[in-house]
Amino acid sequence: MFPKARLSAGFVCLLAAACALSFISRSPQVVRADNDAAPAYAANGDLLPPKNYREWIYLTSGIDMSYSPKAMDMQDHSVFDNVFVNPSAYRSFVATGTWPDKTVMVLEVRGAKSKGSINHSGHFQDTEIMGFEVHVKDEASFPGKWAFFDFDSPDKNGTLIPNDAPCYTCHAAHAAVDTTFVQFYPTLLPIAKAKGTLAAAYLNEESTTGSK
Ligand code: HEC
Repeated sequence: MFPKARLSAGFVCLLAAACALSFISRSPQVVRADNDAAPAYAANGDLLPPKNYREWIYLTSGIDMSYSPKAMDMQDHSVFDNVFVNPSAYRSFVATGTWPDKTVMVLEVRGAKSKGSINHSGHFQDTEIMGFEVHVKDEASFPGKWAFFDFDSPDKNGTLIPNDAPCYTCHAAHAAVDTTFVQFYPTLLPIAKAKGTLAAAYLNEESTTGSK
């Protein structure tokens, strides 16, 4: 039974590969459409908005995260940040502990509200989006493999952030896996630990400051 099942699975794969090949030779767009989120650009290099990111894989919601030991200057206003990644990159991370080419990660910032409906304490997220940033791994397009884009709105094109911006330095110096903050993504950190893909700089930082 088992070897036979394996054989037929192999046969299906062969068929699928043959079909995919015949599609590629006829129409290259089909291959692209099959990818759930390959980054796409306007002629001026702007990143087109990642359309269905709300149907992607949810990684975390940080609240009032501050990366500086000094008090934040906007402490009267709580914010959530929600992080999403395209599903095929997520599956690849689960298998390997790191990100494949064409990974797209979204950071969406929303104000925190506390009074509304039946809620009296704690915080829930506002419908309005206050910030929208995207981190893209596209090895052929960027010398550092990754690039950040800033969006005025999730529906408009995003502009490339120059590679001397603090975004790149902080992510390179402190992020746990491949310039992404996997130490704050609870479903991914154990995978990176198990696969041994944590960045040397992060491990070094952890050993000197200790994890909280
Ligand atoms: C001082 C450090 C620091 C700087 C500077 C910084 N970030 Fe981040 N970034 C973080 C942390 C920490 C997270 C994790 C957020 C969470 O857990 O909710 C993060 C997460 C992200 C993510 C989610 C994907 C990922 O890479 O983990 C994006 C997108 C992002 N930042 C964009 C930016 C952009 C754009 C800039 C510059 C305008 C920037 N960041 C500057 C620390 C930083």
